[in-house]
Amino acid sequence: MSTRNTIRFLRRGEIVELAHVPPIQTVLDYLRLDEKSRGTKEGCNEGDCGACTVAIGRLRHGRVVYEPVNACILLMGHLDGTELVTVDDLADNGELHPVQRAMVDTHGSQCGFCTPGFIMSLFTLYHAGAAPTRQQIADHIAGNLCRCTGYRPIIDAATASCTGHPADRWARGAKAAAKTLAALDDGSDVMVGSGESFIARPSNADALAALAARHPDATIVSGATDVGLWITKQLRQLPKIIMTGGVSSLHHIEDAAERISISAAATYAEAFESLGRIDPDVGEVLRRLGSTQVRASGTIGGNIANGSPIGDMPPVLIALGATLHLRYGERERQMPLEDFFIAYGRQDRSPGELVWRVDVPKLKANEAFRAYKISKRFDQDISAVMSAFRLTLDGRRVASARIAFGGMAATPKRAAQTELALAGAALDDEATWTAAIAALAQDYQPIADMRASAAYRMEVAQGLLRKALLEIAGAAADTRVTGQRMAVA
Ligand SMILES: Cc1cc2nc3c(=O)[nH]c(=O)nc-3n(C[C@H](O)[C@H](O)[C@H](O)COP(=O)(O)OP(=O)(O)OC[C@H]3O[C@@H](n4cnc5c(N)ncnc54)[C@H](O)[C@@H]3O)c2cc1C
Ligand code: FES
Ligand code: FES
Repeated sequence: MSTRNTIRFLRRGEIVELAHVPPIQTVLDYLRLDEKSRGTKEGCNEGDCGACTVAIGRLRHGRVVYEPVNACILLMGHLDGTELVTVDDLADNGELHPVQRAMVDTHGSQCGFCTPGFIMSLFTLYHAGAAPTRQQIADHIAGNLCRCTGYRPIIDAATASCTGHPADRWARGAKAAAKTLAALDDGSDVMVGSGESFIARPSNADALAALAARHPDATIVSGATDVGLWITKQLRQLPKIIMTGGVSSLHHIEDAAERISISAAATYAEAFESLGRIDPDVGEVLRRLGSTQVRASGTIGGNIANGSPIGDMPPVLIALGATLHLRYGERERQMPLEDFFIAYGRQDRSPGELVWRVDVPKLKANEAFRAYKISKRFDQDISAVMSAFRLTLDGRRVASARIAFGGMAATPKRAAQTELALAGAALDDEATWTAAIAALAQDYQPIADMRASAAYRMEVAQGLLRKALLEIAGAAADTRVTGQRMAVA
């Protein structure tokens, strides 16, 4: 396997090849400080506001797909093999791009600070295929914040310009761009830097596992939607960066008859369809996880590996009965996902060991599933409480339950006492639910923090279990203000 000591990407029709790249340089700093393309703005510098949104083109099934990403927390190593498009590139011989023209026509910009980010999000929507619905537009721009114009004119601009028939320079040059990206994918392992300070982006699984084992002090980076903030907010120096994203097999999602296997570098966007098919509530959790930009970069592997007690996916995956696979060098091992989370900040993973894959069982005919995220904002917010319930039914009785919560303990955690107390409960007799709802207080002693008080968390958790039971029982009352199960199924 050959090694390349440069990062290469397509930009404005030319290949850019960089040999000297600091391991923690962000794409935003590269654009604004090195390239001096200052149309892309720095707002929050932590992935929240979308002002820095750029489009990344990746080759998928032979064609270039453009996704919006936050340049402030994207590392230069992520660019290898992609096309980078920014707001400075869009106008064509002085003519505004159709999404820019529509923003002008609908008065979609006032102070203008957010506008470059919105334009780039809309650029990716312009290239996304069919004309989007109003809801799809709102979901697509949920990671772009505007504090003066208001969203209605921006949504109007998207409706006017994103018609499903792209006809800009990128549409006209799609074949050439696909050919260039295919040529950039030379199968080399990327190693930029020296033994003590480097960006490594291995191209195959064995090389990645061997490198991580050889450098247990390196920082493993998948989407950098967490690691990016260590750099921009904690100002951490991370001299050794090992990226997982260059290994194509680690993006693999296998949708088999009884389970879905998600490899560690698969992004939320890549896993969305398969996971959403398990249950509409899994899709709903993913729709609300971060933003389009965060889901285009962030991975489910990273959500597990970071060990956060408030990550959205672990409770969902634990309730579904997921198995986690880890790899260290040539050795692989597996465990029930819940066993991975030992204590706050401690996971069952040694330095140099990689989160490799998660296997998620599909629901059987007699299993019902519900998941609810409670956060202060509907879109792009971290959970105060995350809950997931899988009930195995024997007719109208609960035969057994798997219940997991986030935000209720120092780790994502199963509700062992509640599960026991729920076994045998009758869906048609609310009195038989009481013991289980009360048992949540034995399973969890939540903390109070800026997201929620301990008392609020417990009250919400108990309410959510009751809501899940009501919905699964088929109660006539509406149980949701919004979301995919608007009324009880
Ligand atoms: C604006 C914003 C909104 C967000 N919203 C949400 C939200 O709604 N819900 C939510 O749960 N999270 C949210 N997050 C957090 C983050 O997006 C997720 O935790 C994401 O899944 C992290 O994945 P990543 O690939 O970006 O991880 P990275 O940042 O690359 O890595 C995260 C951690 O995992 C380690 N790591 C990554 N991959 C591996 C691997 N294969 N093996 C071993 N270690 C590995 C890294 O070393 C690091 O410690 C948000 C983040 C941002 C910036
Ligand atoms: S500057 Fe706010 S998301 Fe990047
Ligand atoms: S136009 Fe001012 S923040 Fe959006």
